[in-house]
Amino acid sequence: MPIDPRELRRCLGHFTTGVTVITCAGTGAGAAPHGATVNAFTAVSLEPPLVLVSLDRRSRLCSLVADRPFTVNVLEAAQKDLALHFAGRPNQDVRWAAESSCGSPQLAGALAHVACTPWQHYDGGDHVLYLGEVQEFRIHDGDPLLFHTGKFHRLGGDQNPLLWDDSADGPGGMAWFTQALTAP
Ligand SMILES: Cc1cc2nc3c(=O)[nH]c(=O)nc-3n(C[C@H](O)[C@H](O)[C@H](O)COP(=O)(O)O)c2cc1C
Repeated sequence: MPIDPRELRRCLGHFTTGVTVITCAGTGAGAAPHGATVNAFTAVSLEPPLVLVSLDRRSRLCSLVADRPFTVNVLEAAQKDLALHFAGRPNQDVRWAAESSCGSPQLAGALAHVACTPWQHYDGGDHVLYLGEVQEFRIHDGDPLLFHTGKFHRLGGDQNPLLWDDSADGPGGMAWFTQALTAP
């Protein structure tokens, strides 16, 4: 069956994600930092610490992160306009936080910062899959900005969220990952 790219995109949009802005140094001396909004972000490995972003080959970011450190700025619920700003609809003067220890620019007000150096990249069709080795990370208070079926959302008001105790950030700690790491 031939795949209709638009329908595939609509289908994949039902997988709910957070929203990040990937930031790195711009080109040339004194250039402004560069950023682009990305929801194709995922954790990959704890040892070594690796994360992945999938970038459209046509984006400026795609060529920039090939050889420079970058930060994954996980956006906070109130940062919807910032997501649009870095998706080609500039709408504000961006507030920057201190640079990471590996030299990547970082956004103020993000929910989390994950600063990486380039580790490896792979062919991903019309995208390139970049793995970054985490050099530093920080978590801040707040709720995440979500993306679902092409729209921005906030977390729903579930008063009794189900805890999976084996998740890495639950009180049970690292069980799932520990099993994976110690399996024969
Ligand atoms: C919610 C959202 C998620 C996006 N996710 C991605 C993504 O995962 N990968 C990607 O290459 N572009 C993604 N984009 C599109 C880029 O943000 C957009 O093409 C941006 O303008 C690229 O900037 P640049 O060419 O200046 O680097 C997304 C846009 C939005 C609004």
